[in-house]
Amino acid sequence: MDTDLIRQQTKGCADKIFLNSAGSSLVPQSVTEKMLAYLQMEAIDGGYALAARFENEIKEFYVQAAILLNCAPENIAYTASSTDAYARAITAVDFKAGDVILTTDDDYISNQLSFLSLKERLGISIVRAKNLANGDLDLDFFEKLMIRHRPKLVAITHMPTNSGLVQPVEEVGRICRKYDVLYLLDACQSVGQRIVDVQKIGCDFLTATGRKFVRGPRGTGILYVSDKILDMQLVPLIFDMQGAEWTGDDSYKLAGTAKRFEFWECSPAAKIGLAEALKYINGLGIKNIDQYNNELMQYFRKALEKVDGLELHDQGTLLSNILTFTTKNRPLQDTAQLLKDHQVYFSMSFRDFARIDFNKKNLDGVIRFSPHYFNTIQELEKTIDILNY
Ligand SMILES: Cc1ncc(COP(=O)(O)O)c(C=O)c1O
Repeated sequence: MDTDLIRQQTKGCADKIFLNSAGSSLVPQSVTEKMLAYLQMEAIDGGYALAARFENEIKEFYVQAAILLNCAPENIAYTASSTDAYARAITAVDFKAGDVILTTDDDYISNQLSFLSLKERLGISIVRAKNLANGDLDLDFFEKLMIRHRPKLVAITHMPTNSGLVQPVEEVGRICRKYDVLYLLDACQSVGQRIVDVQKIGCDFLTATGRKFVRGPRGTGILYVSDKILDMQLVPLIFDMQGAEWTGDDSYKLAGTAKRFEFWECSPAAKIGLAEALKYINGLGIKNIDQYNNELMQYFRKALEKVDGLELHDQGTLLSNILTFTTKNRPLQDTAQLLKDHQVYFSMSFRDFARIDFNKKNLDGVIRFSPHYFNTIQELEKTIDILNY
């Protein structure tokens, strides 16, 4: 990968050290240009006429997402965010009182809230698999829970928002297939960051967002829907004329593809922007991005471990591009201010975002760095120098 070229094509990295791709990353310039051009034309032509003319460019979203995730374009739905995709997937499952969702301690806050909503409304139960002492998911225990509870759905977050943990999503997929249980994977932080192959993982649904490691526009998301789900005729609780045809006063026919999970209205400019971001990744090759990110993070973690007074909080055998830490020799807010003063962009995570994980680690808050492939070792060295002040 040509990092210099990538940085030239990433305007936002010229004047800062941007380490917040797990929040909302910097889009490549071509994404901004495509969207701006489309919006200018929309002002002249009107939304419908222009969308008809740009049908092929809009369809490119499905093609590029399918290349990245290793599936067919028919298995891809466009959504407004990861949570939007998640809501569509989870409401397609026909939960009844007493059904079980098997999840983990490390699943995303909004997913946990949706489980709690289903618990309250429908009387389902939530079972959370535990981790081993090193932070890895305890797969033996997970399988025992599968046998004991026969869940209706397994819901796993590939990479949590609040730590560097990477869940063993392929092993979970094998267990789900063994017991024929539906598998919903939140890959919001992993798509665009590492190789995410839905065939290898064997999930039934996968959700992702545009603005993070995919480097797409805000307000965009991706939902992968397996052939199994389509064959089972599953559909979100509420669908519209994109998802089905109104065939008689009291009848309808579902769309044959994952479009069944979309709403008709969307911003074509954003969809074209997301298509461009996905094309950018596919052009670079996710294998190359994965390798670069791995090397970058190995360097960063090792170097940060040596910074006096700094405590890293990421656990597990495999670690992602999300790195969390606290500082012993200075209040965390002072460290945050120091980084801000030096134009380092990052996020903070607090106990409420990840109650179970942070309660176990006894943490009120952490600073989160999330570099991506447009970052350089030199930028990370500078960040370390700042932290060493
Ligand atoms: C793991 C994970 N899942 C889901 C989401 C929600 O994504 P969105 O805000 O696009 O709905 C996030 C956002 O930070 C996340 O980190």
